[in-house]
Amino acid sequence: MPTAALDAEAREILRANDLGGYTVPTHGLYPYQWNWDSALVALGQRHVDEARAWREIETLLTGQWDDGMVPHIVFHQVDPGYFPGPQEWGVEHIPPTSGITQPPVAATTVRRLYDSARAVDREAAARRLFPKLLAWHRWFHDKRDRDGGGLIGIVHPWESGRDNSPDWDAALAAVDIADVGDLRRRDITHVEADQRPLEDDYLRYTALVAVGRDCGWDPALLRASSPFWMLCPGFNAILLRAHRDLAELAWALGETSAATEIARWIAAMEAGFERLWDDEAHVYRCHDALTDEPVDGLGSATFLPLYAGAASADQAAQLAERLSDWLDQVRYGVPSCDPADPRFEPKRYWRGPVWLVVNRMIAEGLADYGFDELAARIRGDSATLVETGGFYESFDPTTGNGVGGDRFSWTAAMWLDWASPSALN
Ligand code: GLC
Repeated sequence: MPTAALDAEAREILRANDLGGYTVPTHGLYPYQWNWDSALVALGQRHVDEARAWREIETLLTGQWDDGMVPHIVFHQVDPGYFPGPQEWGVEHIPPTSGITQPPVAATTVRRLYDSARAVDREAAARRLFPKLLAWHRWFHDKRDRDGGGLIGIVHPWESGRDNSPDWDAALAAVDIADVGDLRRRDITHVEADQRPLEDDYLRYTALVAVGRDCGWDPALLRASSPFWMLCPGFNAILLRAHRDLAELAWALGETSAATEIARWIAAMEAGFERLWDDEAHVYRCHDALTDEPVDGLGSATFLPLYAGAASADQAAQLAERLSDWLDQVRYGVPSCDPADPRFEPKRYWRGPVWLVVNRMIAEGLADYGFDELAARIRGDSATLVETGGFYESFDPTTGNGVGGDRFSWTAAMWLDWASPSALN
């Protein structure tokens, strides 16, 4: 299909998934507002309607808690097609929300909306959002830096955005599922089961939701009793990058004391990243903060510190080499799991498929370190996947076939903002 037709289809998908102020990832499978989806979708929306892109972030922040946390789902209107819904999370908030967060992309988006603004009063729009973003970023350091080492822990695989990555297998195996009872999974009524997490994973996800609910989602209680506390290089890279973007906004808005506070978080995180570097394998690994052990196996998050500027030049070169090695083993990059790992499954969600949102971050990181050819290869693969597979949630790296949900908002947004040949202009 020609570029112009794909551009038009991407715009049409964003319109069709717009429920008025917020965009669902896709109808059916994900009928609510998701946190990092919205932040990434807004990057696409700015090419359609700038004011609407700002509104996506404003609506997301209606879910923000008093302590600053911005939840991973905002349940604007109840939809029986999704489990676990507002009831299972048991959160007292209007609008109802989940009890956990997601990769904090929003500040990066707001900076980009600010920098590219044409038709909106960017000063007023950024001033409205800035204090809320600052409060969220502060929340991470106040509540989720367990040992003061500078890195932020996640208490549920869903917080990483990479739900069933093998990165979580060992930690999840230790989660008690005795009391979970019957699952009321709805995802496999929308999408083939072989493209979704396993039943056993869902039991553990649900058990972790129950732990949080029993703590009343109190961060201090969770810190004391969560059986899952992982330091993920992907999540931390996205936050570090977002800190840098928030600091730029702070300077632009004259918020100098906030800029100083953010600079402290940046320094702490930069130092913290060293802990995730595996000096023998030359990669970043997730780290289990409860056992103080690095995680065996690799997901695509290993490359994201490039996007945060957290790697040294040497580390970056080693990551680029590793990435080339992965790309040699598949047809399209970047697979979400090491293709040489026996747990690699090219169709099963975060255990193999290619996700355009991650590709974009990896490619930006590579370009920042001067690996332009590799960055162009990833962008080229991303474009081909959409051109041949459509606007799927993710793609099989061995065949290029779309997997998961169809007519997916963030895939459409990444096309418009990045992968489409027209985005180069
Ligand atoms: C899945 C993905 C997550 C995404 C959500 C909505 O849970 O793993 O990253 O935010 O779906 O698209």
